Amino acid sequence: METKEKKVEDQESAEEEEIDLEPVHKILDSFPSRDRRYLIPILQKVQAVYRYLPDKAIQVLMEVLKITRAEVFGVISFYPGLLITEPGKYIIKLCYGTACFVKGANIIANKIHETYGIHPGDTDKTKLFTLQTASCLGNCGAAPMALVGDDTHGTIDPEKSIELLGNYKLEDAPEQQTEEVTSE
Ligand code: FES
Repeated sequence: METKEKKVEDQESAEEEEIDLEPVHKILDSFPSRDRRYLIPILQKVQAVYRYLPDKAIQVLMEVLKITRAEVFGVISFYPGLLITEPGKYIIKLCYGTACFVKGANIIANKIHETYGIHPGDTDKTKLFTLQTASCLGNCGAAPMALVGDDTHGTIDPEKSIELLGNYKLEDAPEQQTEEVTSE
């Protein structure tokens, strides 16, 4: 399996275009001091802006907080929610807590791999889905559970999971046109 550092190398070439780093400086300014102890909340805020942690933003943090790449990646590797590549439009969080696992969460993961070619940690080629595993989502009674974006899905099975994922599209459906009624 690719490491997060290997993935960032791949991402760098895809990140040729300049990104606006002003939000990173604003985030740094919002903390009382430029201290490495704020690294985790800073990374979370940076990710909230870009949906992942662009390498150029990481470089700014390294310079300003005077920390090494190894230190930043030590933190990023520890928190699965911190992403160094741009995720798909929807992040699937498949619960791998005990109740969900014994009810076949790994079989659902296999089915997703079979259908979309992604293992946990991967994004499919079309950038529609990023698959992640999660610890208990807090609703074991409805195991197996998954979140897709902001939507919660319970008592899923392999077939059902593929069926529900089919409802998520890259393009949002155009708003339904309502016929205008005019009186003469
Ligand atoms: S173990 Fe999956 S919701 Fe608790």
